[in-house]
Amino acid sequence: RPRVLSGIQPTADSFHFGNYLGALRQWVDLQRDHQPFFFIADLHAITVEQDPKVLRERTLRAAAQLLAMGIDPARSAIFVQSQVPEHAQLGWVLQCLTGFGEARRMTQFKDKSAKGGEGAASVGLFTYPVLQAADILLYRPHFVPVGEDQRQHLELTRDLAQRFNHRYKKTFRLPEPYILKATAKIADLQDPTSKMSKSASSPAGIIEMLDQPSVSAKKIRSAVTDSDGEIRFDVENKPGISNLLTIYSALTGETITALEEQYAGRGYGDLKKDLAEVVVGFVTPFRERTLELLDDQAHLSAVLKSGAEQAREVAQATLRDVYQRVGFVAPG
Ligand code: TYM
Repeated sequence: RPRVLSGIQPTADSFHFGNYLGALRQWVDLQRDHQPFFFIADLHAITVEQDPKVLRERTLRAAAQLLAMGIDPARSAIFVQSQVPEHAQLGWVLQCLTGFGEARRMTQFKDKSAKGGEGAASVGLFTYPVLQAADILLYRPHFVPVGEDQRQHLELTRDLAQRFNHRYKKTFRLPEPYILKATAKIADLQDPTSKMSKSASSPAGIIEMLDQPSVSAKKIRSAVTDSDGEIRFDVENKPGISNLLTIYSALTGETITALEEQYAGRGYGDLKKDLAEVVVGFVTPFRERTLELLDDQAHLSAVLKSGAEQAREVAQATLRDVYQRVGFVAPG
């Protein structure tokens, strides 16, 4: 079975609809006929300052949410990145293969460091994509299910894999991004030309998976649209309506064309009201299940421990090859 790997940062109390529709839903689907490794990227989270207590809580909340949405520990290794030290170890080797200019071209660093100025950003934030390459290459996956914003990091990953293979010996598989076009970039409800983002969006712009359902419904009803009045998918000219249609279609399985027909001649209020109901129907059981799982921390820890053991087995084997090829003397 082909391998898949992906990760998510525990940097908010809840995942949002961009995370879910852009990536996590594909994680759940790919479990069936792939060999999956999914992890919570706590090493990545500390590239910006985190409160230790909050980080620990959010990491467990992330695990509970992954299980609640259908990640099945019997099929998938689900683990916390810091529990598999090989990520940081391979990260170092890859940093030594990455050009300074190459790292500088990563647009997420430019965006994230823009606010405080480059001088205030950590070196960890700068080398973040190289650690991500290590996360991926350790498991030699065929596919990496992510949203559009991760495409550039996947390209760097492939470049580094190729460079290592060429300089030393063929060691890494070149992974393919697995990005579903329809949901690759879910937009901010209040600013529909930007992506929905934990760090950049206002609370009203993000539908959080763990929001009270009534709050999610309100956010949908207050989404920014346009004044043209026609319900039609047109990302260029009607980004707000197009985003609502995308979310609607993704949650119900109805095609965009079918939705356009269904809402022909009707008002934005109708669309929003119906979508709000769909969203409430979706988040209500998800929220209950997550809260239940959070009540049993012993179970969560056991799942994560077993996931880390499975992951380490694979990661250690890859790192052993890497160390040997680079010229490190083996212990003993
Ligand atoms: P993160 O934690 O920001 O987001 C997790 C996943 O959600 C996707 N995503 C979106 N997709 C569509 N529309 C949106 N508005 C939207 N917002 C977020 C992201 O593309 C991502 O797939 N660097 C990664 C974490 C990571 C990782 C990895 C991923 C670390 N190592 C190795 C894959 C493989 C990140 O910050 O994702």
